[in-house]
Amino acid sequence: MLDKVKSLISEVENAVAKTEEEVENFRLRFIGRNNIINDLFEDFKQVPGDQKRELGPELNKLKNLAQSKLKELSSSIGTGRKSSGDVDVTLPGAYGTEGSIHPISQVRSRIIEIFERQGFNVEDGPEVDNDWNNFTALNFPENHPAREMQDTYFIEKNPDILLRTHTSNVQVRLMNKKKPPIRSIMPGRVYRNEAISARAHCFFHQVEGLVVGENISFKDLKNTLYHFSKEMFGKDTKIRLRPSYFPFTEPSAEIDISCFICGGEGCKICKQTGWVEIAGSGMVDPNVLEYCGIDSTMYSGFAFGMGIERVTMLKYQLDDLRLFSENDIRFLKQF
Ligand code: PHE
Repeated sequence: MLDKVKSLISEVENAVAKTEEEVENFRLRFIGRNNIINDLFEDFKQVPGDQKRELGPELNKLKNLAQSKLKELSSSIGTGRKSSGDVDVTLPGAYGTEGSIHPISQVRSRIIEIFERQGFNVEDGPEVDNDWNNFTALNFPENHPAREMQDTYFIEKNPDILLRTHTSNVQVRLMNKKKPPIRSIMPGRVYRNEAISARAHCFFHQVEGLVVGENISFKDLKNTLYHFSKEMFGKDTKIRLRPSYFPFTEPSAEIDISCFICGGEGCKICKQTGWVEIAGSGMVDPNVLEYCGIDSTMYSGFAFGMGIERVTMLKYQLDDLRLFSENDIRFLKQF
């Protein structure tokens, strides 16, 4: 029996396999359910004790060898097969999908970049604020409709605390913290109690701009936004200022840009007018400067508030605000 075991050991040691079938044959002979080594272990039980001492270790060696040999044979076949032409190495590889930056974030970054080059720094403020910063210090009259429940989200049980309705709250915070010269932009999310539709949403994004210093005039406001518009929408872009009203600016103006899609001829995007609105703006009302501890006889300033969704929709010719918050991968993939 010892001879038989020894000859099997050398058979295992020298085994080679070139095909899957040969590997399978090896497995059946040495590892499978009715393998030859099991039979030997059965016979082993009948062997007289003095022979067991020599035979035992040899049998175990055979068993272990067979197992490691099987691994060796199957892995050599495995790698051999891959390199032998079953895989078409000329096919393009399979790539994982990469995420992309949300269009609103992309446009916000671009807006920031353009203003930073004009010497603006970026400031930040809270989305939950008090009535003073969002309304009162901005010269909102007591009964102004914007304060009403239907426009503003108040924090329950405390009518003084609200979700900011515009980024202008950061103007107030900034002027309280820092004295002129101020030249800052303040991007952020704002909330309004509106029914969600293609044209309105209960939250959106704005970039506030504030410049306060000596001899700041309406001309500076116009130039700053003109430069911005050309950078953002193309060098042929024109701007138009339309008289408007905000409690915190006087005079106030709505900023329109010439429609860069039809070049001013009139199209669907500009509703045949040749102009599209991008921001509200104006000269900071002296009352606001005073509320924020800035001497309005020494300093003047201008401010603007631009809708990031608005700019993004124009830039990419989108017509539904809801696309930005639905997280539909088919939409997001295009940016
Ligand atoms: N806060 C105004 C709005 O949300 C925009 C604005 C900002 C207007 C600054 C003038 C000056 O509509």
